[in-house]
Amino acid sequence: MKFFLDTANLDEIRDAAAFGIADGVTTNPTLISKEGDVDFKEHIAAICEIVSGPVSAECTSEDTEGMLREGREYAQIAPNVVIKCPLTRAGLKATKQLSSEGIKVNVTLCFSAAQAILAAKAGASFISPFIGRLDDIGENGLFLLSDIVEIYRNYSWPTEVLAASIRHPIHAIEAARMGADIATMPFKVIDQMFNHPLTDKGQAQFLADWRKSGRK
Ligand code: E4P
Repeated sequence: MKFFLDTANLDEIRDAAAFGIADGVTTNPTLISKEGDVDFKEHIAAICEIVSGPVSAECTSEDTEGMLREGREYAQIAPNVVIKCPLTRAGLKATKQLSSEGIKVNVTLCFSAAQAILAAKAGASFISPFIGRLDDIGENGLFLLSDIVEIYRNYSWPTEVLAASIRHPIHAIEAARMGADIATMPFKVIDQMFNHPLTDKGQAQFLADWRKSGRK
């Protein structure tokens, strides 16, 4: 499973890259707005300088023509830019057209298996089911992820399943167990994946014993 960073923060991306776990980056308008008054295209270019894998840049137009204009423009920023289109009728029309032009599209805001089927048929390179947001409304986001992985596998569809809206390490572990192609995670979740109290306790004990024996 590939690990993408779900952030637009350059420090977090550099940090994760140093661990060797930034196979790509997903941004969205909310994440970009958290970075303050940055120029969108320049910021995406800066991310692409750190990460050589897919970097998602999201369209903010609501109509197909607008998404096509944005998609073609953002695709010029760097060869690894992927255009994010929403799972709307206009978004899937744009997905179909951009994909036919060789521009990769990540279809975002997927909340059902039916939507995921439509995105694959439209030629999406990635489908992003939002697991955590389904959990938030009392549905099980991991059930959706499992359905999509199974359906895509049945037909060997090339669209990669990108588990999104991941909130904690269990989401990441289950996504890996199901065979999702990618999990995109906030830096906080990657950091949580490191933690185990027995690691901390064991390390402290080893070092204390080392010093007790008079070694430096
Ligand atoms: C995915 O590409 C989205 O940016 C992201 O996973 C949304 O996560 P959230 O539900 O935590 O905002």
